[in-house]
Amino acid sequence: MKYYYLLIIGVLLIIGALLISLFYFGEQKNQFFKLVDICQDRHTIECRTDQLPYNNPKLPLEKRVDDLLSRMTLPEKIGQMMLIERNSLKNDNDIALYGLGGLLSGMGSKPDLDTPEGWLSMVNEYGRISKTTRLGIPVLYGADAIHGHTNIKEATAFPHFIGLGATGDVELVKKVALATTQELAASAIYWNFSPNVDVLGDPRWGRFYESFGSDPSLVTRLGVAYLEGIAAYDSSPYHPIGTAKHFIGAGAMLWGTSVNKNFKIDQGESDISLDELRQRHLPSFKAAIAAGVPSVMIGLNNWQNKKISENQYLITDVLKKEMGFSGFVISDWYGAYEIENNKYKATVTAVNAGIDMIMLPFEYKRFMADIQTAVDKGDISQERIDDAVARILKVKFQIGLFDNLNYNPAAIADIGSAEHRAIAREAVSKSIVILKNEKQLIPISKFSKKIYVAGDAADNLGIQLGGWSVEWQGINGNWTPGTTILDGIREVVSPQVNLVYNKDGNFNDNSKLADIGIMVVGEKPYAEGWGDKEDLSLSDNDLEIIDKLKKNSKKIIVIIISGRPLVIKNEIKNWDATVAAWLPGSEGAGVADIIFGNKPITGKLPVNWSL
Ligand code: GLC
Repeated sequence: MKYYYLLIIGVLLIIGALLISLFYFGEQKNQFFKLVDICQDRHTIECRTDQLPYNNPKLPLEKRVDDLLSRMTLPEKIGQMMLIERNSLKNDNDIALYGLGGLLSGMGSKPDLDTPEGWLSMVNEYGRISKTTRLGIPVLYGADAIHGHTNIKEATAFPHFIGLGATGDVELVKKVALATTQELAASAIYWNFSPNVDVLGDPRWGRFYESFGSDPSLVTRLGVAYLEGIAAYDSSPYHPIGTAKHFIGAGAMLWGTSVNKNFKIDQGESDISLDELRQRHLPSFKAAIAAGVPSVMIGLNNWQNKKISENQYLITDVLKKEMGFSGFVISDWYGAYEIENNKYKATVTAVNAGIDMIMLPFEYKRFMADIQTAVDKGDISQERIDDAVARILKVKFQIGLFDNLNYNPAAIADIGSAEHRAIAREAVSKSIVILKNEKQLIPISKFSKKIYVAGDAADNLGIQLGGWSVEWQGINGNWTPGTTILDGIREVVSPQVNLVYNKDGNFNDNSKLADIGIMVVGEKPYAEGWGDKEDLSLSDNDLEIIDKLKKNSKKIIVIIISGRPLVIKNEIKNWDATVAAWLPGSEGAGVADIIFGNKPITGKLPVNWSL
C-alpha cells in the first residue's frame, strides 16, 4: 500500500515539473525574441534623444517620422502596433519592455483611486513609463467617451448619439464633442474611440443608440460635426483625436446571424451588396476622412461571410487607397483573433489586410513573438510593418505627445462642470421627440393642481445614462451626479402644485383625479450584443402601472427612455401624449424643459418609429 502512495506522489511530481517547464519555456519562447531596450537615465550618450531630429518640433512632420522610423528596431516597431487593455499588463513596466504603442481602458477598467485625480495620475504614469524606452516613444491612451467621459462617475453624461441625432443640430454636437474632449483631456486621455458613424438598420441591435440615426446624410453631418468639435480643443498644447467607427456596414447586420452564441445580431452578417455598402455606409467615413479623422476602427461584423478585419479589399484598397485615408487603422476588441482559431495566421491576415494597430487587447507577449516570426518568415513584409508604424507615429506627433511633458491638473475642474452640464441639458431638450400630442396637451401647465408621476425610469439616472457608463453595461440606480426627470419636474412646476411620485403607480387619494399623470418607462441599461432584443414592447409591469395612472388622472403622458424605438402601436391610442426622450444622460431635467414649455420643441425622429 505504501508503494501505491509513493507512486502517486512520483507521478504528481513529474506532472508538476512538466507543467512548470512548459510554462517557463512558453515564457522563454517569447523572451527568445528581442525586446525593447530601456533607458532609465536619459543623460547617457546612447540614451540622449532630445537632440535627435525626430524630437525637433520645428522639423516637418514627415521628416520627424522618417528619422524616428529609421532608428527603430523591429521589436520597437512591433510594439507600436499593439493596443493593449490596461488590465492585461502583467507589470506596468511591460509598457516599456514591449514598447507598447497604445493602451486603453475598456469601459469599467479604472484606476484603484477611481477619482479624476486618480485617472490623471494613472494615465500620466503610463506615459512616463513609455518614455523610458531607448527612443522614448510615448504611449497613446484611448478610451470610449461616446456620451461624455463616462469612464468617470463625476463626468457629464451627454445624451447618447441617437438623441443627438434627434437634435439634428450640428453646432450643438460640436459643443458636446468639445466638452467631452475637455473632460477626457483632464485625465490626460487624447484619444476618443468616437464618433460612431454607423448607419442604422435593425432597432433590435443592442448598439442602436450608439449612432446618430438611419439617414446617411444625418450621420455624415453629425459625425463631421463631432470631429470638428474635437478639433476645436485648444486648452493645452495637445491636439486630441477621435476615431471613426465601425468600418464598415455594422448597421446592416441581419438578425440571427451573430457569430457570438450569446448575441443575436451584434457581430453578425451585414447582408448587403457592394453597391449598397458603398451608397449607404461609405459616405459617413468618406466625410470623416475629408474632415481629417486620424484613426478608423474596423468593425466586428462580417460581410460576404468574412470578417471585415480580414478584408484587404475594403481596408487597403478602398479605405486607404481609394478614399486616401492616411491615418492609422485599428482593429476592434479581439477582432483580429476572431478571424480564425490559429492566432498566428489570424494576426498575419489582419496586418496584411491593412490593420495598423491591433486592439489585441490581451496577449502582447505573443504578438511580439508572432510578428517577429512573421517578418522573419516573410509572411508579413517589412514594408507593411513600416507603413503601419509610420501611420501611428505621424498621429502621435500630430497630437503633440512627443513635444509636451506636462499636463494641466487645473483641467480636472472641467469634469462634470456646470458649463458642460448646461450643454448636456440643452442637448436633452433638443433631443426630445413628440410622438403624440392630443389636443396640444404638451406643454403642460406649471400651475396644474395635481400631478402624478409614476415609473421606475422617472427617478433613475442609471436608466437615463444607459450603457457605456462607468461600467460597460451601465449601472441601474442613482450613483452619479445629475438630475432625474422627476428632479426636472419638481424644479419646473410651481410650488403650489400637488406633485406626487409613486414608482408603482399606487395613488391612494381617490378624492380627486390628477390633472396630469406622467409615466416614465425605460429600458434597463445594456451595451453591445447584450442589448440585442427581439421583443421591444413594454413590459406587463409598465403597462399595469400606466393603467393605474390612467385611472387616477384626467390625462396621461408617457415618456419613453430608450436606446431605440419601442413597440407601442397597440397602446399609444390610450395615451393623450407620448414623448421619446432616448437615453438623455445625467441632465434629465432637460425633459421637463420641453413638457412644461420652457424650451421649444425641435427634436425630430432620427430613425423610423412605426406607431
Ligand atoms: C468594443 C466596441 C468598440 C469600442 C472598443 C473599445 O468592443 O466594439 O466600439 O471602442 O471595444 O472599448
